[in-house]
Amino acid sequence: MRLIAHISDVHFGRHDPGITDALLDQIHQMQPDLVVLSGDLTQRARTNEFVQARHFLDRIGRPLLIVPGNHDIPLYNVVHRFVSPLWKYRRHIPCGLEGNDWYADDELAVLGINTARSLTFKSGRVSLNQMALIRRAFAHVPEAAWRILVTHHPIAGAHGEPKIELAGRSPLALRAIADAGVHLLLSGHHHRPVSGHANTELLLDNAVLVVHAGTAVSTRTRDEAGNSYNAIRFDGAHAEVETMKWHPNRGFQQARRDKYLLRAGHLEPESG
Ligand SMILES: [Fe+2]
Ligand SMILES: [Fe+2]
Repeated sequence: MRLIAHISDVHFGRHDPGITDALLDQIHQMQPDLVVLSGDLTQRARTNEFVQARHFLDRIGRPLLIVPGNHDIPLYNVVHRFVSPLWKYRRHIPCGLEGNDWYADDELAVLGINTARSLTFKSGRVSLNQMALIRRAFAHVPEAAWRILVTHHPIAGAHGEPKIELAGRSPLALRAIADAGVHLLLSGHHHRPVSGHANTELLLDNAVLVVHAGTAVSTRTRDEAGNSYNAIRFDGAHAEVETMKWHPNRGFQQARRDKYLLRAGHLEPESG
């Protein structure tokens, strides 16, 4: 049994301290096996925002997997933006080479790749090297483990979701994702929680789940989406995706829960 708390777009510098404390309380109660943070840690990649983000991460006290978002690359400092875009991020945030990250245990294999770019500033991109990394990283993962890819910019939308902007080269990346047998794609960026089967013909039907996180604690909410995070549970071949939405008087409460059974490479919806 494993539990992932998937949070995103915390945007320190534009965060709500009360919601931040409530989220930390809930994480401390849940004791997730892994906390995934899918980018946009800061509002404008300012040093004091990274310091606040790091303080938040230190308070989590659980294993972390983090990727940067477009807001974590300096917008106005042209030298840093183009010469060393991840300079501040890497100075303050624990991460692997080039902003990629990796977590694995007996039941989970989770790869985070950095889709934030200096040039394609907003929509991000997957590089050819990262596609090779996707294939390589999952090649020796035990058959029974769940394979999860984390990006800031979504690589696919979910069934029923209105069309959204995807990371550059997503169609090519989806080939690597199919070859690697990835089961879940976790992302952020659009500040709207959405989950369901990937809505692309480039993947086998019902083979991959897409889970977008809303903004967990920032005041940059979209319309009625508000603040939210996802709790994702794995129990053998069963997976459960729960969206926890913020209510000012009641705190984070379950807004949606979907259950799936992994059978012969397909994620079949389960009731109950
Ligand atoms: Fe964001
Ligand atoms: Fe973003």
